[in-house]
Order: sequence, then structure tokens, then C-alpha cells
Amino acid sequence: MEIIEKAPAKINLGLDALYKRQDGYHELEMIMASVDLADRLTFELLPKNEIVIETNSSFLPVDRRNHVYQAAELLKNTFHLTQGVKIYIEKRIPVAAGLAGGSSDCAAALRGLNRLWNLGLSVEELAELGSVIGSDVPYCIHGGTAFVTGRGEKIEFLPAMPQCWVVLVKPKMSVSTSSIFSSLSFNSVQHPDIIGLKRAVETDDYQLMTEKIGNALEGVTIKRHPVIQQIKDRMLKYGADAALMSGSGPTVFALCEKKTRAQRIYNGLKGFCDEVYIVRTLK
Ligand code: C5P
Repeated sequence: MEIIEKAPAKINLGLDALYKRQDGYHELEMIMASVDLADRLTFELLPKNEIVIETNSSFLPVDRRNHVYQAAELLKNTFHLTQGVKIYIEKRIPVAAGLAGGSSDCAAALRGLNRLWNLGLSVEELAELGSVIGSDVPYCIHGGTAFVTGRGEKIEFLPAMPQCWVVLVKPKMSVSTSSIFSSLSFNSVQHPDIIGLKRAVETDDYQLMTEKIGNALEGVTIKRHPVIQQIKDRMLKYGADAALMSGSGPTVFALCEKKTRAQRIYNGLKGFCDEVYIVRTLK
């Protein structure tokens, strides 16, 4: 038997860090939305008690460092399972990009293995298990558009974000999320209006959404990698309604109502960066 799960990328329409907590994590307020760029995971039972990860990507480790491996191991240990599994990861989302590719793969692994091994776990139970592996995993178990708070485990579902075209541009370098968070200074951080942004999404107000998107980590990552600002400037020059870095970066996304604009931004950025995608938001 073979099972397939899609693992969509997410963008942060909003990300605010309120304060650093006792446990070292940051208290966050985020508006996340899934987009139609996705990895694809295929699951197959193995007779031997082992976890085998295969992938088309040369950037992914296939051992314990991979979050998909950790998901399989967590379920095997928690439920004392002796059946083995082979998981093939067809990677399409850029790696270490701020698009939650690794977390979404991990969430897809938990969903897929729940089916493959007939565990009967609810999405809430899967989200709780996933939170042990990564802060974005609980959101990725559900996907869609959501207001996400706490460390990333408190999720309020929102209506789908206003429909538009999204151009994703991933510059060459990778960014370490923990290193960006540790450089965040609460004296100089620009806090976005997350509640205003939430209202824009709830009322399907595209114009207000483009005014309210914001990311408290953007300034930190731009300081290290000024190319992110250059990409944003180019996106706006080519007609983007708004442009913002996603997560801790380095991917930048542009929002456009018109497909022709998205195409113009795509063409304008394609020579500047190798990894450029036009995607739509997911219903
Ligand atoms: O949970 P995860 O391992 O994905 O987080 C990566 C890093 O991002 C953490 O080690 C931490 O430095 C930072 N982080 C944070 N506050 C959060 C989520 C992540 O400081 N709410």
C-alpha cells in the first residue's frame, strides 16, 4: 500500500515577536497562509523495523536531522510500533527559506503515518505531537489561513486570505532561524499591526491587507543580507501591491491582484535570483 500527502509552503503575512520567554522561545503573533507550492511525500510499509528516507533534493539530510525522520521516530516510540516505513520526499519548496518547508514535510509525515499505521489520531493530537519537533509544525498540520500565537501552538482558523497572486523569490543564502531570533532587539523592533491585519483577512479586504502586512524579523535579516531589501524594492518597482520577507527569511514574497503584474515581477526578478515562483493562495 502506498499513501501520498502534500506538504504546502506557508507565508507569514504578519509576524510579531512580543517578548522573550523563560524557556528561551519568543512569544509570537502571526498570520500564516498556505500557498500552492508543495512538496509531496509518499509512504510505503517496510517489513523490517527501520525508517528509510529518500529524496530528490541534494540539500536534505536523510537521517535523524531530517524532521520527517523525527516524526516517524516519535510515532514509533510513542506507540511502540515495530513496522518499518520508507518515505520519499519530492522536494519543491526551497530549503531553509522561511517557507516552513521542513515543518510542512514533518506535518505531512505525521498525517501520512497516522493513516499508514492506522493510529486514529485527531489533528489536534497530531499537532500536539508535532510541537515537540518544531514550533511551526502544529500550524502545518492544519494549514490554511490562521492566527497563530504562543510559541506557535495556539491556532485560530481564519477565512482564506483575500485571493491574489504571490511571487516568491528565494535569494541564494540560507538563514538560521535561531540566529535571527537571537539578534532581535526589542529596543529597535518595528511591531506590525497584527490585529489590523487579522481584521483585513476576516473582512476579505485585500487593500487593507497589503497595508498591514509586516514582519518584526525583517529588519534583523535585512541587516545581514541587504539583498532582501533590493528584492523588495524591485518587486515594488515592477508593480507589486506589497512585498515582505516571510518568517526569518530569506524568501521575499510579493502580493498582486493582477496576474499580468505577477508575471512582470517574475520576469523582472528571474535574472536577479535563480529561485522565483508564481503561486496562488490556497482556499
Ligand atoms: O521550534 P523550532 O526549532 O522550529 O525553532 C527554531 C528556532 O527559532 C528556535 O531554536 C528559537 O531560537 C527560535 N524560535 C523562537 N520562538 C518561537 C519559535 C522559534 O525563539 N516561538
